[in-house]
Amino acid sequence: MKLTYTGKTKDVYALEDGNYLLKFKDDVTGVDGVFDPGANTVGLTLEGAGRAGLRLTKHFFEILKEKGIPTHYIDANIEEATMTVKPAEVFGKGLEVICRFRAVGSFLRRYGLYAEEGQALDAFVEVTLKDDGREDPPISEDALDMLGILSKDEYQVLKSLTQQIAHVVKDELAKKEIELYDIKFEFGRVGESKEIVLIDEISGGNMRAYKNGEYIEPLELEKMFL
Ligand SMILES: Nc1ncnc2c1ncn2[C@@H]1O[C@H](COP(=O)(O)OP(=O)(O)OP(=O)(O)O)[C@@H](O)[C@H]1O
Ligand SMILES: [Mg+2]
Repeated sequence: MKLTYTGKTKDVYALEDGNYLLKFKDDVTGVDGVFDPGANTVGLTLEGAGRAGLRLTKHFFEILKEKGIPTHYIDANIEEATMTVKPAEVFGKGLEVICRFRAVGSFLRRYGLYAEEGQALDAFVEVTLKDDGREDPPISEDALDMLGILSKDEYQVLKSLTQQIAHVVKDELAKKEIELYDIKFEFGRVGESKEIVLIDEISGGNMRAYKNGEYIEPLELEKMFL
């Protein structure tokens, strides 16, 4: 087992059989001790956060598997806080794909002149570059194609998968009267066929969820949900 990448919230190991092992850490993103899923710094360390994130991730990836939606997921070990996945090639140096059902966060910061806080959005999809130094700038379909990061055909697949998966998560949360405002995904190309699949995680740290108009912290969400 070889450590190939040390991320902010996970470590990535290459296994001898060619698969990857993701180790979920107790670090969560945020600023000055306050959780923020959009932040590019580790804001705080919370005991049990890694395992809680993995539990939710496992739950959602298994539902996606049942539905035939392609992901990198192979299996998970909650005790060890590890997940075995198929290795993927990311687009460029990595993209984040956001799906929004209500206007909050960076959407509101950018478009506040035209949008009201909490305004309904129809599974609005936007893509940002994973570039901490440039604060993850949004990028258009044309720019992705022009810069050789993602072709136009791939963009359509990415957008459609994003909306499908976001709706699956939204519907699941709705069963517990929890409303999904927005969610962030990562995708990659897997295997010889370069099939586009969902990678990384689906945990409280990647979404904003509300109950009766009140924001639910990731750890609390994981407790409420599972
Ligand atoms: N199947 C996969 N194949 C290749 N890389 C993957 C796969 N799944 C996840 N990754 C990558 O593993 C890393 C996990 O680390 P982590 O979640 O800590 O992310 P990060 O990139 O440091 O920061 P953040 O996602 O919080 O901005 C990410 O870079 C993610 O893109
Ligand atoms: Mg990450």
